[in-house]
Amino acid sequence: MSRIWLSLFMVFAVMAAVPASAEKGANPCGMKNPCAMKNPCGMKNPCGMKNPCGMKNPCGAKNPCAQAPKPIRKEHITDYAKLLKKGEALWNDTKLGTSGMACMSCHADHENLNLDTMKGWPHHVKMTGDIVTLDQMINFCMINPMEGKPLDPNSVAMTAMNAYYHEYAKAYKPSMPKK
Ligand code: HEC
Repeated sequence: MSRIWLSLFMVFAVMAAVPASAEKGANPCGMKNPCAMKNPCGMKNPCGMKNPCGMKNPCGAKNPCAQAPKPIRKEHITDYAKLLKKGEALWNDTKLGTSGMACMSCHADHENLNLDTMKGWPHHVKMTGDIVTLDQMINFCMINPMEGKPLDPNSVAMTAMNAYYHEYAKAYKPSMPKK
């Protein structure tokens, strides 16, 4: 046991002595670091020139999103507040169909919109005997109770009807009195 301690002591003694004697000689770290000269990172990066990403992105031209917008209709709208106003006017328009009624004649106070059971579109609407999208439901009511013409799905009018429906539905609280 004591032999081990002795040999351990000697190892430490040698380790402690080495740096002391090395300090007396020329410290290699004290010299101008010879590696600094050859450091490839210090040179102008030769890869920088050949980096294909540094060139004009050749895919940019083909990216369809980078091209000018392709309209889906002649009339455009980019102002959401304006779209909502348009939608509200349409939902209240008694001249939209020929029956003299407006959507709001039957849907005021969220009436007949089944918002208690609403789980997104498309869904089953009893009156249609079918699963329909919101666009299809709007057109169902346009043709039937409103006795009018269906709206073009790509029209600003249809987008506005959609926008107002969602805004109107958001305001619904299940505690609201039903008529
Ligand atoms: C004469 C009354 C009447 C008019 C006018 C009317 N609707 Fe409806 N609408 C109904 C009824 C009743 C239902 C409920 C159908 C059901 O639950 O089976 C309904 C259902 C709907 C629904 C679906 C509700 C659900 O279950 O998710 C939407 C959306 C809708 N109407 C939009 C409109 C729009 C837009 C207009 C105007 C273009 C309009 N309605 C005009 C009577 C009307």
